[in-house]
Amino acid sequence: MQLNVDNKVAVVTGGTRGLGLYCAEAFVENGIKTIFITSRKAKACEEAKKHLEDLAKKNGKSVEVVAIPADLAVEEQAQNFAKEVEKRVDKIDILVANAGATWGAPLEDHNVAAIKKVVNLNFVAVYHSIQLFTPLLEKAASVGDPSRIVIMSSIISLATNDIVGTYGYLGSKAAASHLGRNLAVQFAPRHINVNSILPGFFPTKMANGLIEVAGKGLTETNPRGRLGESEDLKAALLFLCSKQANYINGVDLSVDGGARLNLPAAHF
Ligand SMILES: NC(=O)c1ccc[n+]([C@@H]2O[C@H](COP(=O)([O-])OP(=O)(O)OC[C@H]3O[C@@H](n4cnc5c(N)ncnc54)[C@H](OP(=O)(O)O)[C@@H]3O)[C@@H](O)[C@H]2O)c1
Repeated sequence: MQLNVDNKVAVVTGGTRGLGLYCAEAFVENGIKTIFITSRKAKACEEAKKHLEDLAKKNGKSVEVVAIPADLAVEEQAQNFAKEVEKRVDKIDILVANAGATWGAPLEDHNVAAIKKVVNLNFVAVYHSIQLFTPLLEKAASVGDPSRIVIMSSIISLATNDIVGTYGYLGSKAAASHLGRNLAVQFAPRHINVNSILPGFFPTKMANGLIEVAGKGLTETNPRGRLGESEDLKAALLFLCSKQANYINGVDLSVDGGARLNLPAAHF
């Protein structure tokens, strides 16, 4: 069975580094026709675009990569991003709502502004991206091959023993996963499948601080004995976006080696 995203159009938010860039790479390596990426920094957008174009060339693929800077936590910028996409294509097949951020501090020092900032990007902006791109997703949708929305949640959305004080992050990820399940039901008649990926711990700019604090804790308590790697995420994403996953809708797919079953917070 060959999984691919042949001739499709995808949007990946936060596609300039970390897990979002892995998602964009997976699409470029497996048949995407056009990919839109976005993040706040123009330079990061340009660098990621070049990286993806080089990757396409290396794999003998012809891919159009469009990078548009936008702060998705700012409503007008998110709207502008969607307008820029609409100018270039009349439909999209896949939206990966990946952009996210975190903040951790003890309750006494964890002010409301920090909670609002995290929830605004990880939940409100995910909702807004989906709202903005639904018309274009609907245009590509068919019974035989529904359009796909993939929300980048986290296994941490399942955790209740948070010792690093990431209150907004945990709550926002639980909310994002809930949104995914809710929309999976609402959008199914419109032939759009909505699923969430729940990554475990992957070394990225966002996660490296926590991975450092945890030391060996995260690998020692992981049933598979290691952190996540790019290929782990790419395989899960490609499956969820493939034609073969037509009937997979409303799932929270953990990509964590089983870590969610043995979360290490209590150990460090
Ligand atoms: N790494 C992990 O272990 C892990 C585990 C579970 C879930 N996740 C989730 O996976 C997603 C990606 O995380 P990551 O670890 O890859 O983080 P990362 O390396 O910090 O990447 C975050 C990406 O989002 C962009 N971004 C941040 N704020 C944005 C904004 N306001 N508007 C638009 N783009 C924005 C960043 O670019 P700019 O800075 O240029 O904006 C960057 O491209 C997040 O939703 C995170 O919660 C990660």
